[in-house]
Amino acid sequence: MEILAPNVSGIARAARALAEGLLVAIPTETVYGLGANAFDVRAVARVFEAKKRPTFDPLIVHIAEMGFLEEVASFPNELARRLAEAFWPGPLTLILPKRGRVPGLVTSGLDSVAVRMPAHPVAREIIRLSGLPIAAPSANPFGYLSPTRAEHVARMLGEAVDFIVDGGASDIGVESTVLDVRGPRPRILRPGGLPRGAIEEVCGPVELVDRSSAQPTSPGQLESHYAPRARLRLVGAGGLVAAPIAEGDAVLFFDDASRESFERARTVSARGAHRVLSPSGELREAAASLFDILHELDLAGTAAIWAERVPAEGLGLAVNDRLWKASTK
Ligand code: TXA
Ligand code: MG
Repeated sequence: MEILAPNVSGIARAARALAEGLLVAIPTETVYGLGANAFDVRAVARVFEAKKRPTFDPLIVHIAEMGFLEEVASFPNELARRLAEAFWPGPLTLILPKRGRVPGLVTSGLDSVAVRMPAHPVAREIIRLSGLPIAAPSANPFGYLSPTRAEHVARMLGEAVDFIVDGGASDIGVESTVLDVRGPRPRILRPGGLPRGAIEEVCGPVELVDRSSAQPTSPGQLESHYAPRARLRLVGAGGLVAAPIAEGDAVLFFDDASRESFERARTVSARGAHRVLSPSGELREAAASLFDILHELDLAGTAAIWAERVPAEGLGLAVNDRLWKASTK
């Protein structure tokens, strides 16, 4: 495995590697993706293998320009086109009718394909230069925390990847919002980096698919997902004060206000780490630091983490979703 800088030669090498059928971890504004040529079944098979991901969990195909879309999918309706025009490039993945050229392995045999146009300039340039649609799941072992830094990818996947392009920390820090736009009313299959409210401004009410639904249509809905090695226990907002936290447990607060009231109320000195998602209580910042802090706590060998829900608005929906999934391991 080789780490590439996000400069002209690193980007060119990454694009060439993708065209050669190699695996390249790419920085995006949401999380790092493990990229492969979506038309190359052998390369895509290596992605599943590297992640130990079951092949029933389909991949997102990444494109750099709108002109590329017709190679992989079509717009089923005007609304889908409007959403793509409003939010691409950006943290929105659309479930669209797939074109025949996309291998069944990419879509787990479904007749739909997930498509996203990332906004990160390095990702876009790599994809554009490769001249290919790039299949890229988050660059983590199946079920584990998504990577928001090149180091996370190197530590988790190591020699299973050929190149990692180091683009620094991901801005948004949670995965894209997955939206099924094939029916009359769009359905959010996975809350993510694009808040529901922003989508509703463009297309009216959208449905949020119940994660406890008996038949998940998106394995992002699987309960145990995005999980650290540590045992994560989730309580309601402000609920940490009353939680039965043991001495060595780590505690993850939403903001400084919550941490302060916890520390005032607790007289026993705890030895576990205390971390704050966003000191000033900003949901954007909380999303951006979530996986980063969980990776750090895992690296330190933390056995148990207590966390509280964040306000359920904007990016808070995605943060609570990831916390909840991390807690159901
Ligand atoms: O932000 C992101 O979306 C990142 C970056 C790298 O783009 N990618 C990512 O990929 O999170 P992955 O594979 O970890 O998550 C893709 C999600 C999964 O929950 C998968 O089940 C769902 O999208 N998905 C993919 N194709 C689908 C399809 N045809 N129908 C329904 N869900 C689909
Ligand atoms: Mg993933």
